[in-house]
Amino acid sequence: MTRTLLIDTDGGSDDVVALIMALRSSDVRVSAITVVAGNIPVEQATRNVLCAAELCGAQTPVCAGAERPLLRELVTAQWFHGKDGLGDHGYAPASRQADSRHAVDAIIETVLLNPGIEVVTLGPLTNLALAMSREPRIINAIGRCVVMGGAPCCEGNVTPAAEFNIWVDPEAAKIVFRAGLPLEMVGWHLCRGSAALNQEDISKILALGTPVAEFVIHSNSLAADAYHAQTGDYGISLPDPVAMAIALQPELCTASSMHYVDVETMSDLTRGMTVVDRLVVAEDERNRGLWEWAWKGQVRTRVCWTLDVTGWKAALYALLHGQDSAHG
Ligand code: RIB
Ligand code: CA
Repeated sequence: MTRTLLIDTDGGSDDVVALIMALRSSDVRVSAITVVAGNIPVEQATRNVLCAAELCGAQTPVCAGAERPLLRELVTAQWFHGKDGLGDHGYAPASRQADSRHAVDAIIETVLLNPGIEVVTLGPLTNLALAMSREPRIINAIGRCVVMGGAPCCEGNVTPAAEFNIWVDPEAAKIVFRAGLPLEMVGWHLCRGSAALNQEDISKILALGTPVAEFVIHSNSLAADAYHAQTGDYGISLPDPVAMAIALQPELCTASSMHYVDVETMSDLTRGMTVVDRLVVAEDERNRGLWEWAWKGQVRTRVCWTLDVTGWKAALYALLHGQDSAHG
């Protein structure tokens, strides 16, 4: 049975690769793509998403959304992805326009029309938090919510404590993580090291010789440089495509477990930290007050700890190669 997806994205160079994976997969139907400010301003992110959709020949509705976080000023990642978010190569704009609906309206409408829908978020959680606050019925209508975000019990990529998508809008993330969604957290730790595309992976993709394959690598040229500057590692690190691969093929997450997870919003030092109760101490007497929201509602998140790196790269290659299904 073809599954239905709604994708919320901040339109950066890794986001568009994740979108291409979903749009080229015969295992899923992408019902709508909603856009949020994050990597770049929402207008540019929307243009990038329309480009990716056009490259796939997809007429999927694209709806622009929140221009800034719930409470804070927008801080972009243009230093990482480039001013246009796609490596500043001057790609031609798509021929079609975005849908006239606001992303929040589109999320509410799409979820209520497709009970059991799978939501994949690739950017800050502003749109989803706004949609849930405006229409709480969508919480029970969402069948699965895969979030690219967080740094579970490990270092962040924006601060020592926090990953970008959560750090940009921690208040929105707190709403989403506390809502009781069937939430799966794919953290930044899963896209580093051997999971990043190495030179051999890059050459193999470029050897496909297609416009899509070339775009996937070329649009991430600045991101590759920034990744090395940030971590000392080489290659193209693709957080959103890793999250999309797990969304398409859950078995690619090779170890996961359910935990109470909360988001820090009060501290500058640990803003956006995804605090994971890994050792299950939240219900201990000394902690019960802080985590009452969690144990009263038994609100847990599935935290993905490890990735089948070979399987993730095979899934990406299969979708770029034109084998319709991520299952090869
Ligand atoms: O921290 C990585 C995440 O932040 C990715 O989704 C990237 O596109 C940016 O949005
Ligand atoms: Ca993103």
